[in-house]
Amino acid sequence: MKHRSASPLTVLGLETSCDETAAAVVRLTDGRAQVLSSIVAGQIEDHAPFGGVVPEIAARAHVQAIDGVIVRAMADAGVDFSGLDGVAATAGPGLVGGVMVGLSFAKAVALARGLPLVAVNHLEGHALSARLAAEAPYPFLLLLVSGGHCQLLEVEGVGACRRLGSTIDDAAGEAFDKIAKTLGLPYPGGPALERLAEAGDPDAFALPRALLGRKDCDFSFSGLKTAAARLAERLRTDQERADLAAAVQAAIARQLAERSDRAMALYAQSTGGRNLRFVAAGGVAANQAVRAALRTTARERGFSFAAPALAYCTDNAAMIALAGAERLALGLVDGLDAPARPRWPLDEAAARDRPTHLAGRKGAKA
Ligand code: KG4
Ligand code: ZN
Repeated sequence: MKHRSASPLTVLGLETSCDETAAAVVRLTDGRAQVLSSIVAGQIEDHAPFGGVVPEIAARAHVQAIDGVIVRAMADAGVDFSGLDGVAATAGPGLVGGVMVGLSFAKAVALARGLPLVAVNHLEGHALSARLAAEAPYPFLLLLVSGGHCQLLEVEGVGACRRLGSTIDDAAGEAFDKIAKTLGLPYPGGPALERLAEAGDPDAFALPRALLGRKDCDFSFSGLKTAAARLAERLRTDQERADLAAAVQAAIARQLAERSDRAMALYAQSTGGRNLRFVAAGGVAANQAVRAALRTTARERGFSFAAPALAYCTDNAAMIALAGAERLALGLVDGLDAPARPRWPLDEAAARDRPTHLAGRKGAKA
């Protein structure tokens, strides 16, 4: 096996856990990341007729796309396989058929080129994604908010996350997607709802606020989803549709900010007011209203605010390559028998202690 040098480390990352086939090359030098290439091939047209991701279609599309996506990522980076120090792939959580495609490919590259393999938790990829471009030193408080997950976590470093709160029903991205569907918007619903909301008045509809009396940092979006579905049935004009989209977006942003505010207070208490850094990541962190609400909350609490560039909020392989490189730097590598894991909580102890806090989409997305 090739010896890893302390620095720099150049890692190929693969991401195939849902409906994007992605490959990227990232170089880590003294803890600083440089994205040498990042290719994301989406499958929106394949799944759009079904209004959501169809696992079997996704797995087949990954098989077809992955070869070309990797060739492009390597060419864009100007690196050949002998220039790599390791290969990383998402090993879960996600649609297992898709996860197996990327993970098997990474194992084949590792075996053929004598490279170390890193099996990356997709959620750790999101957790680290702000470090791709911005200054986001450890430790920090993280809101991970995507299509399958909605969690607040204290992130000490790779492999060291402690969960403060989580959704008790749907993930925020899932709420965006489902409500978008009731508004007649195409899949994927989040970005479409954001565009529709631009022309809307967020105060035109009153929507319920969840878990107001609770002192914890949990989330709930099912009440909002039901209320929005009921209102959507009675909409008559395009203006009313835009108003409801704006109201829904504002309600989701408000809940994310309220729970984050609570988590910031707890975090500040536990750190004695040190390391007040807040990071938002995941597909929903691409939403401008959400970002703005979180930035304001962070400022009011005296926290710095960081979020990945928009391209690294939604699923991508640069975040997987970065997690791989950070793990490789610590000697955290995996064997060629590393399993594909449909479910894989970041904070395994918290998931064991509070098993009711399952991912809204039951692991279909990550
Ligand atoms: O992180 P991601 O690409 O995949 C998962 O790991 O889940 O997140 C996808 C989710 C989808 O639910 C999508 O609708 C949502 O993120 N999303 C957005 C926006 N962009 C993506 N939601 C609201 N506004 C957006 N601009
Ligand atoms: Zn994701």
